[in-house]
This record gives sequence, C-alpha cells and structure tokens, in this order.
Amino acid sequence: MNNSENKATSYSIIGFGNIGKALARAFARKGIDVSVATTRDPKSFASDAAKIVPGIIPTTLAEAVKADVIFLAVRFESHPDVAKALPNWQGKTIVDVTNAYGVPLEQLGGQPSARVVAQAFTGGKLVKGFNHLGAAILGQDPAVHGGRRVVFLSSDDDGAAAEIGALAENLGFSPIKLGGLSEGGLLVQARGNSWGQLIFKDLVKFD
Ligand SMILES: NC(=O)c1ccc[n+]([C@@H]2O[C@H](COP(=O)([O-])OP(=O)(O)OC[C@H]3O[C@@H](n4cnc5c(N)ncnc54)[C@H](OP(=O)(O)O)[C@@H]3O)[C@@H](O)[C@H]2O)c1
Repeated sequence: MNNSENKATSYSIIGFGNIGKALARAFARKGIDVSVATTRDPKSFASDAAKIVPGIIPTTLAEAVKADVIFLAVRFESHPDVAKALPNWQGKTIVDVTNAYGVPLEQLGGQPSARVVAQAFTGGKLVKGFNHLGAAILGQDPAVHGGRRVVFLSSDDDGAAAEIGALAENLGFSPIKLGGLSEGGLLVQARGNSWGQLIFKDLVKFD
C-alpha cells in the first residue's frame, strides 16, 4: 500500500520487448495489475500482448508514467526519451532494469549507469535491479529447485529499496540488497564492454 494516500500502489512497465514481457509475466503470475507502454499506440499491440501475457493492461506512455512504481525496460540509450515524459518524477519509484552494455564509459562521465539514469529522472527515487537475469529466465516462475531466484537491488534511497524488495518478494523472487548505486549498482551493471562482477557472462546470455 502507498501509506501516504492509503491506496494500492500502481505499477507500470515502460518497454514491452524481451525484458518488459518477462516482467509482465512475473506480475501476471501473481495476479498483480500492471500496465505496459511503448512508443506505439497501445491498440497496436493490445491483442498480441493479451496472447503473450493475459491480463496485461496496454496503455500510453503518458498514462503509464502516472503509476507509483515504474519499471524502465527500454534500451539504455532510450532512457532520456522516457525521462522527458514528466518534468519531475517526485513521489515515483523508478526501477532501472537497463544494462548499458557497449556504452562507452566516457559517455557516462565515469559514473555508474544507474546514476546517469537517476539524474535523468529528476526528483524520482531510483532502484537498480532485476537486470542480471536474461529475459528468458526472468520470465519463468522464480520458484526453482526448492528455492527462489535472486534479484539484486541497489539504491541511494533505503525506503525505495525496501519498497521494491517487498514487491520482489510478492513476485516470488528473493531480493538481495547491495547498497547504494555507486557500490551495488557497479556490481551488477555492465560498464563499457564488461559485465558487472556479479553477472557471469558465461552462464547468462544477454541480448
Ligand atoms: N534482453 C535481456 O535478456 C535483458 C536482460 C537484462 C536487462 N536487459 C535490459 O533491458 C532493457 C530492454 O531490453 P530488451 O531486450 O527488452 O529490449 P527490446 O526487446 O529492444 O525492447 C525495448 C522496448 O522498449 C520500447 N521503447 C523504446 N524506446 C521507448 C520509449 N522512448 N518509450 C517507451 N518505450 C520505448 C520498445 O518499444 P517500441 O520501440 O515498439 O516503441 C520495446 O518494447 C535494455 O536496457 C537491456 O539492456 C535486457
């Protein structure tokens, strides 16, 4: 629940490619409402989306950014375009699922990519996470081998990290908090042409 307004927290996913669909499946599996948006008219992908993820709510980007918690499931290069959808992201939690693989470090000004994304979403609370699993695995039931798949979370905002940790548990994952964006973020995010230290490229294939 969103305590300040005593209403259910609303969720959206921006991007409905490999990772957006995997996240949508995770929400659908647990019966948690989530809307999805791309640059396209939602009518153009509504019927395909319903076949892939029953119960999904296709919407416009303008509507999707009204959610309390917004998953950013676009290519890293597209994050500034999404960020322009609102002048200020105050009160919103953005879950950065992007990987800046292949993005030159100079383009990031030497910063963790999650910090670059955080700066674009002015006023928002950013949590880096859900980005170390390939879409094919993220889309599967996280209850495996008698345990639960792990998702790593990093944030400079402890409240937001706790909020997304609770959501991850509700989605069936086992969240592990890695600290702030400069510490935890660097462990699980791609830098240039290298994966983060906790991403084992020989075990997980990413697009
Ligand atoms: N694929 C993986 O296994 C994997 C794993 C972990 C993390 N990631 C990360 O997750 C992110 C998404 O990867 P992906 O493989 O899902 O990419 P993808 O298949 O290319 O999907 C990208 C989605 O973003 C949408 N999009 C692009 N620009 C947009 C904008 N300005 N506003 C709204 N929607 C926009 C696209 O929709 P339209 O262009 O149709 O509008 C498309 O649905 C990347 O940062 C990637 O590094 C991927």
